[in-house]
Amino acid sequence: MAALRAAIAADERDGVVPVAVVGTAGTTDTGAIDPLGDLAQVAREHGAWFHVDGAYGLIAAASPARRPAFAAVADADSVIVDPHKWLATGAGCAATYVRDAGLLPRAFAQGAATYQQESSFSSEEDDAVVQFDSAGIPYMDMGVELSAPSRGVLAWAVLRELGRAGVAARVERHIGLARHLAQRARQHPRLELLLEPELSIVCFRYAASDAVNAEILLRLRRTTRSIPSSTVVAGHLAIRPCFINPRTRLADVDALVDHVTAIGDELTGAQPG
Ligand SMILES: Cc1ncc(COP(=O)(O)O)c(C=O)c1O
Repeated sequence: MAALRAAIAADERDGVVPVAVVGTAGTTDTGAIDPLGDLAQVAREHGAWFHVDGAYGLIAAASPARRPAFAAVADADSVIVDPHKWLATGAGCAATYVRDAGLLPRAFAQGAATYQQESSFSSEEDDAVVQFDSAGIPYMDMGVELSAPSRGVLAWAVLRELGRAGVAARVERHIGLARHLAQRARQHPRLELLLEPELSIVCFRYAASDAVNAEILLRLRRTTRSIPSSTVVAGHLAIRPCFINPRTRLADVDALVDHVTAIGDELTGAQPG
């Protein structure tokens, strides 16, 4: 928050208008949730747009236990969530919500093309006699795509199958897997937990150099079925699993920990036990 306030103050000193404040509800690297309420407040103070990037994390708000951290999403001017992440829709599907939908046509509408005039879609929905009289909500005027596939149906199908309770259960199960891994890393003498997981991402490492951890990642990838990504936390290379796959089980999490310790022990000559 201090860095944001300082950046805005510097902009204002330089005569630069602070246009927008963007908060992240579940960061890509660590799954951290920004203090969204404080960000909303700063945006309001400066008349700036407040956007929330919930691409990965916002689905967690389906779980009553996680909802408080996302409360200030209600104050956002716009928010996005990617159903292709935690809802595992399989094909890319990003959802954008804006408080004032009237802004979108102002930004994106290009005006009716000649081929559209009078041929169809000319009526308001209320006046439509047959379905071809109306195109429904004019999504072609609300984004960069003119003809867009019906990606939303993927999210609809997953939500329809799982329901609100099912989504919440999935989120809690994945957060449980992250906490289980964190607990094992905390307890193991040769593993380090770099951050307490806030959602379903865990950042941990074998207690050795970055080079050893890089080699562990390479061997995991080449010789096991545990293939996490990595990041850097406080200057240290971190092994970074992100649990969003509906098929991941506790045994998979334990296998990752066992592989990391076995490979690390082999590389460093540490005695297992
Ligand atoms: C917080 C966040 N925002 C945005 C993105 C971009 O996602 P996409 O390009 O799949 O919409 C990611 C991807 O990991 C993310 O974690």
